[in-house]
Amino acid sequence: MARSAQLAVLPGAMPSVCRVAVVGAGPLVGIHHCNALRELREQGVELACVCQRECTNKVAAERFGVKLYTDAYEMALAESLDGVVIATPTHLHFPMVSACIAGAQDRQANLNEPEMRLRAILVEKPICENLQSALKLVETAEKAGVKVLVGHQRRYSAFVRRARELVTNSNFGPLRGVNAEFSLLKPDAYFSSDNPKSAWRCIKGTGGPVLINLIHDVDLLRYITGHEVVQVFAFTSSSARENSVEDTGAVTVVLDHGAVGTFLFSDAAPSPWSYEFTTLENKKYPPVPGLETKDCYHFLGAQRSLGFPSLRSYKYGQDVDVPGWDSPLTIEETSVEREDPLQVQMAHFVRVCMNGESPECTGRDGLQSLAVVTAILRSAETNSPVTPQDLLKHAAAANLHSAAQECSDGVLHPLPQSCCIRLSTDIFTESTYEASVTLSSAHLDSKKGSRHAASLSHA
Ligand SMILES: NC(=O)c1ccc[n+]([C@@H]2O[C@H](COP(=O)([O-])OP(=O)(O)OC[C@H]3O[C@@H](n4cnc5c(N)ncnc54)[C@H](O)[C@@H]3O)[C@@H](O)[C@H]2O)c1
Repeated sequence: MARSAQLAVLPGAMPSVCRVAVVGAGPLVGIHHCNALRELREQGVELACVCQRECTNKVAAERFGVKLYTDAYEMALAESLDGVVIATPTHLHFPMVSACIAGAQDRQANLNEPEMRLRAILVEKPICENLQSALKLVETAEKAGVKVLVGHQRRYSAFVRRARELVTNSNFGPLRGVNAEFSLLKPDAYFSSDNPKSAWRCIKGTGGPVLINLIHDVDLLRYITGHEVVQVFAFTSSSARENSVEDTGAVTVVLDHGAVGTFLFSDAAPSPWSYEFTTLENKKYPPVPGLETKDCYHFLGAQRSLGFPSLRSYKYGQDVDVPGWDSPLTIEETSVEREDPLQVQMAHFVRVCMNGESPECTGRDGLQSLAVVTAILRSAETNSPVTPQDLLKHAAAANLHSAAQECSDGVLHPLPQSCCIRLSTDIFTESTYEASVTLSSAHLDSKKGSRHAASLSHA
């Protein structure tokens, strides 16, 4: 899609107003969402208000001249909103989404309106800190009829889109393997353990570079290749800082068609080999000295290979009699116009709110990337291979189990949707559904008696 088309949000007649709020307008990403909304002002988009943890945090509200809230529910109750952006610390994504939906529903009921105005929520990546919360988030939004767009903004990068075209082209594959690196040095201030507000970044279960950074690379591996990760094996180290989270690691993955891949990551080493420093899409990162464009990913196909983001591909030309190491490789180059993926993502989000466009990265798609990084963390902990789909099944079963435990009145309430998962990738099948219910029933059997368990297993 041409740049102007990607940034057009409300094509057609007179632009109607699309009102969007930002919850968590922090300096790393939330304020950039505010900027992106402000950039779309002339296309009928309005940054309606912001919500921060503290009323003293007035930076964004003052810069953009909008009202500051400190409670997401109160904000959604008071404001007429088409969309909300959630950019709070990851473990607050589910509570914030729930609060916004509850506020919008109560507003609709109070005003006796036929429909709820809130149509979509953009949730920063990772969708949540764990799979159970992520499943609940997805189900809560689906039940309320609110679309979820997960903020994997690199999917809108011109480099990524071109790489996807090249890697999925019939003259590339089949894909044999992929190699990805995320290495850079985060400054001490990023962690500042004496600051309770940023403590979540170095606490196991909410922060660490696997959840915060590597999820971007995992998501791009899935997006660019069109393949799913079916197994992972990881080693991590936390020797650089005295935090409970990892700082460095190596991961092996197996893809659904048998190809393999590796990830090397560290947030504790000065290095130019990361998406951030090789694409330089985000102006926060200064240019790296040296003329040669560096690559952070390598895709190996049966017919050619591709470096990313140089977009240089290597193959044997048609004039080569015997392709192989005795013949010279040919280089093909292509270029794209660098643009800000966060801005393109925001234009898409507004179209999701106003024009019924489907989210490029749905909640269930974001859940799949979270399952892979959760498997990476689990594998490093247990020193064994882990299957992401198994973790999803267990999370669904655990949610089902706690929902059933809440049935203290002895009445079997309708099963939550978590037992009926169908991911956009169609990996989850009916047999998985059976597996979740059975597992949950077994738990119940030992805890609550067989009558309840039996009714559940027939549900
Ligand atoms: N897409 C990207 O490239 C990218 C980049 C950085 C961070 N992120 C993600 O964005 C999220 C935020 O990360 P961060 O480093 O900006 O976090 P942060 O700790 O800087 O907090 C962001 C904001 O959340 C607000 N907040 C905290 N608790 C709140 C509450 N209860 N109610 C309302 N507001 C509250 C704070 O006021 C703060 O301004 C994380 O999920 C992170 O993974 C994404």
